[in-house]
Amino acid sequence: MADGDGDWARLVKCRVCRQPAIIDLRRHNANFCVDHFLRYCDQQVAKAIDEFEMLRPGERALVAVSGGKDSLAIWDLLVRAGWEADGLYVGLGIGDYSEASAGYARRFAAERGLALVEIDLRADHGYDVPTAAAVTRRVPCSACGLSKRHLFDRAALDGGYDALVTGHNLDDEAAVLYGNTMRWQTDYLARQRPVLPAGPGFPRKVKPLVRLTERETAAYCVLRGIDYLVEECPMAAGNKHLAYKEALNEMELRSPGSKADFYFGFLARAADRFEAGARRDDLGACRSCGGPAESELCAFCRLVERAAGAEPVPVELRR
Ligand code: AMP
Ligand code: FES
Ligand code: ZN
Ligand code: ZN
Repeated sequence: MADGDGDWARLVKCRVCRQPAIIDLRRHNANFCVDHFLRYCDQQVAKAIDEFEMLRPGERALVAVSGGKDSLAIWDLLVRAGWEADGLYVGLGIGDYSEASAGYARRFAAERGLALVEIDLRADHGYDVPTAAAVTRRVPCSACGLSKRHLFDRAALDGGYDALVTGHNLDDEAAVLYGNTMRWQTDYLARQRPVLPAGPGFPRKVKPLVRLTERETAAYCVLRGIDYLVEECPMAAGNKHLAYKEALNEMELRSPGSKADFYFGFLARAADRFEAGARRDDLGACRSCGGPAESELCAFCRLVERAAGAEPVPVELRR
């Protein structure tokens, strides 16, 4: 075959079975065929769950799904591995983007006969992310993150799930670590782990994709025929997180494995050295929702109070 990809496939063999490879994983110095790449993904997730004690046999998980590749991949991986896992979708009201993302999450669930819990910010709480961003005069990701965290916690506790699963992958975690290290945000560094234990008003939160990269979860979805929303959130453009990812990708290109070394080296040798500030179990109960709160109302209920009465702001008019 004359083209480069054909040559590559002919020359490069799967590390396990010596059949033509479909993907090269430079940080592992390995190439895999389809079957062995899928097996590798299963193994990496199983290893993360086991190593960090994310889930125990018989436990039920609630997977927060955005309709993107990572969260659908982890839902698929968990269900295939035999875990009892329902999905949770939060409609953020970000115009066409939210419409499309809901569609991917719903189709994934319906095609596999899985249960999807749905919460809609506008219908259930009277506001959406663009309006909350305008009212608070903060970046949209701030109101978005606050809303998601609160609703994820509440849905997991109300549904009696043992753990709340998110689709954060190695690229996400390394980028967050990079940002927190660059600013020496010691409080965040103390809490940056792939498992956060349950506490009063908080479910256990786990990230079983930390051993897989974004490129790997995308390949997993393509090979498993999982249809996902490729488009990124239109309100996240210019986000610092993306710049950290790019910087780390540049390093990874020059020195394969550095991203994983950075993140797993931190967990093994540095995370314990940082002390978290306020303890989560010192918090009081929110007057409105009963959830953990630093003052009379929790941050979510304060946001609802401010944003729910405001004139809705269309996505196009965002600041
Ligand atoms: P993000 O905060 O957008 O980087 O997403 C991180 C993780 O949060 C994803 O991998 C999902 O597990 C979850 N997530 C993001 N958006 C939603 C949503 N609208 N509904 C449910 N889960 C979500
Ligand atoms: Fe939260 Fe875009 S997904 S602001
Ligand atoms: Zn093989
Ligand atoms: Zn509250």
